[in-house]
Amino acid sequence: MMQNTNSGQVRAGLSFLVTVVALGAIVGLAGCDGGGSAGSGDTIKIGEFASLTGATASFGTASHNGAIMVIDAANAAGGVLGKKIKLITEDDQSKAGEAATAVRKLISRDRVVALLGEIASSRSLEAAPIAQQSKIPMVSPGSTNPNVTKVGDYIFRVCFIDPFQGTVMAKFTLNSLKKTRVAVLTDVRQDYSVGLSQYYKDYLTKNGGTIISEQSYSSGDQDFKAQLTSVKAADPEVVFVPGYYNEVGLIVRQARELGMNVPILGGDGWDSPTLTQIGGPALENTFFSNHFSVEDQNPVIQNFVRDYRERFKKDPDGMAALGFDAAKVLLDAMTRAGSTEPAKVRDALAATVDFQGVTGKISIDPERNATKPAVVLAIKDGGFHFAETIAP
Ligand code: PHE
Repeated sequence: MMQNTNSGQVRAGLSFLVTVVALGAIVGLAGCDGGGSAGSGDTIKIGEFASLTGATASFGTASHNGAIMVIDAANAAGGVLGKKIKLITEDDQSKAGEAATAVRKLISRDRVVALLGEIASSRSLEAAPIAQQSKIPMVSPGSTNPNVTKVGDYIFRVCFIDPFQGTVMAKFTLNSLKKTRVAVLTDVRQDYSVGLSQYYKDYLTKNGGTIISEQSYSSGDQDFKAQLTSVKAADPEVVFVPGYYNEVGLIVRQARELGMNVPILGGDGWDSPTLTQIGGPALENTFFSNHFSVEDQNPVIQNFVRDYRERFKKDPDGMAALGFDAAKVLLDAMTRAGSTEPAKVRDALAATVDFQGVTGKISIDPERNATKPAVVLAIKDGGFHFAETIAP
């Protein structure tokens, strides 16, 4: 018992230091302004847990960028309820187990009043029970697995969920590509991938499609030739790979190397600039569902894209947009609650209706999810291009 506690504290201290250094590098130590020391009453402390480093570093970095845009703008305009916001960010390094550690620390050491995070569903699923037990509202920007918000009434998200996302890509397969014979490759280490495969297959097979090959892999794998050889032998018209961008980039490349030139489809987990670095020209004729397109001419989106480019010198991806919306929805709830008391913020979050975000209009439903359309993006010449919008 003693030993566990001690090593826990050492780890906590170390990763806190790493976080401070990482944050310093990313935001120029913006988190250290305003004299908002722990326990002082003149700041509102919001905790964020995100994958700033590790396998899915682009998810956490982008959502963090979106969140600090909102918080810096709110602070520049005088703060919320007359107080400055202090965002305390913990890097969970994209690792299983670290999200739970980060959230425990944010709640018990920093005494945050609300939490932003995570992106990957498996990491939200491990952190959510801690937030729920402590009755600290948690808003996930991008976790789409339905089980995340089922953890309890303090757990919210600002994105759609995978039963919808799976349907979107099954409809795209059947109605837009007009294909029916599909092979599916699932990352069995990710709740996200397992769920999304299932929902896709459910809709596809009930509407005239056939799954002719099912293969699995694990996050971190690099060689997919064995699975792809079986897939090729089944001769599918489409391959569905609802994974994260690192493995997807390699899978698409290796599929093309084996001579498979059929369309390859996926979900929001593809959304990262790193995907194109890994996949290169092999990504021609691939499509994925997402929360947002930089090509959307809606002025709300174009203003966000302009501000993001100005500050970070690159285009925002879907995670950046969701990180922005999650922070905005949370601050809006605090303002409407007239209080930062977690129970009151929870009630205000639950009452969010028609909030105009950059990922669409956000209304929180009774299951604490957001119902919104999805966009399908086509990858062409190394860029992500808007193909179509599919409504719920
Ligand atoms: N939806 C993914 C998950 O639940 C995370 C994700 C969201 C990835 C948005 C990219 C963009 O794991």
